Amino acid sequence: MRTAIASVLALCAAASAAPSSMGKRAKWTKTTRSSSSSTSCTFNSAASASASASSCSTIVLDNIAVPAGETLDLEDLQDGAKLIFSGETTFGYKEWDGPLIRVSGSNIAVSGTSNHTINGGGERWWDSEGSNGGKTKPKFFYAHGLDDSTITGLNVKNTPIQAFSVQSDNIVLSNINIDNSDGDDNGGHNTDAFDVGESNGVTIRGATVKNQDDCLAINSGSNIIFTGGTCSGGHGLSIGSIGGRDNNSVKNVTISHSTVSNSQNGIRIKAKSGETGSVSGVTFSNIQLSGITDYGVVIQQDYDDEGNPTTGIPITDLTVQRVAGTVESDATPIYIMCGDGSCSDWTWSGVSVSGGESSDDCENVPSGASC
Ligand SMILES: *[C@@H]1O[C@H](CO)[C@@H](O)[C@H](O)[C@H]1NC(C)=O
Ligand SMILES: *[C@@H]1O[C@H](CO)[C@@H](O)[C@H](O)[C@H]1NC(C)=O
Ligand SMILES: *[C@@H]1O[C@H](CO)[C@@H](O)[C@H](O)[C@H]1NC(C)=O
Repeated sequence: MRTAIASVLALCAAASAAPSSMGKRAKWTKTTRSSSSSTSCTFNSAASASASASSCSTIVLDNIAVPAGETLDLEDLQDGAKLIFSGETTFGYKEWDGPLIRVSGSNIAVSGTSNHTINGGGERWWDSEGSNGGKTKPKFFYAHGLDDSTITGLNVKNTPIQAFSVQSDNIVLSNINIDNSDGDDNGGHNTDAFDVGESNGVTIRGATVKNQDDCLAINSGSNIIFTGGTCSGGHGLSIGSIGGRDNNSVKNVTISHSTVSNSQNGIRIKAKSGETGSVSGVTFSNIQLSGITDYGVVIQQDYDDEGNPTTGIPITDLTVQRVAGTVESDATPIYIMCGDGSCSDWTWSGVSVSGGESSDDCENVPSGASC
């Protein structure tokens, strides 16, 4: 580590000695403005960025090609640092778990220049098996311990598998564009856009997602907002699956003002049969559905053991309002499968999903709701 930093500092000195001609070839350049607390660094390689980003207050990642099997590792950034993706960020090919990118710190602002792309090159891994087998595929972006921070305006293309894993407190992800549509006909699978877990205070605003799994999946956490999202091609806006991992609970979530089109499901809550945990204070409102192929609205306590709902993961204080639109002819508009007494205090209004065939299999539907 020490050697790496020393050699990069030497490069830095060389770069500042001959700034304009060395600019392109130097591993990175560093400009100290007034004090060490405002140091702007531009990196051209993943290794130099990972080694030295924590000494910079502004970090520009300029056309970085991350080597195969390595993480663009930007952990423990300076408090208040700005991290900017510029040009095209690419990744070498290897079968491994990833992640391809990891960022942590406090009060960090992650963004991109207006025409940057972070290109996961997922087509090299896609084999229709996702995380169920075939090639081992790297996760894309870990926002773990990225607290009191923002991720804004990133343009992401072709993730090998799941895109953003969020485990942070007080984080805002806005106007993120994830385009995995190349995977629709080329074996993209389990390309969840946002997986949120063990987080308190998450806002995801204005996301545009084209993928082949959940647009949003909240596995645990509290005080979470998803709004202004445009989701297509995937599995819908999901709470869960809950249970089986860490007795997890999901509390106080609002998912609103979003569209879900050409997707398996519209909105859903998946609680595993036979497990423990809780889902409380969830609101879905103003969600427009179209081209749904499985379920418009699905709320189930029988996930993983269909037809056998259990009561260990109560779903309480749920609001579903103004969820409207259409499902395909062989789809089910609404499916509710609860255990005895374990779904309660639901508010259900303006739910209008047409097309398909109504389900006769709903069980223990709480008063106010209907299948
Ligand atoms: C967009 O990217 C290209 C290629 O990297 C670059 O030449 C061009 O100047 C960029 N345009 C803007 C508006 O940033
Ligand atoms: C629910 O979460 C939102 C968003 O974080 C927050 O503003 C609100 O205070 C929370 N409500 C409760 C009852 O905790
Ligand atoms: C799961 O959580 C509930 C509620 O917090 C608790 O009563 C129960 O004992 C927990 N179960 C396990 C296996 O940890």
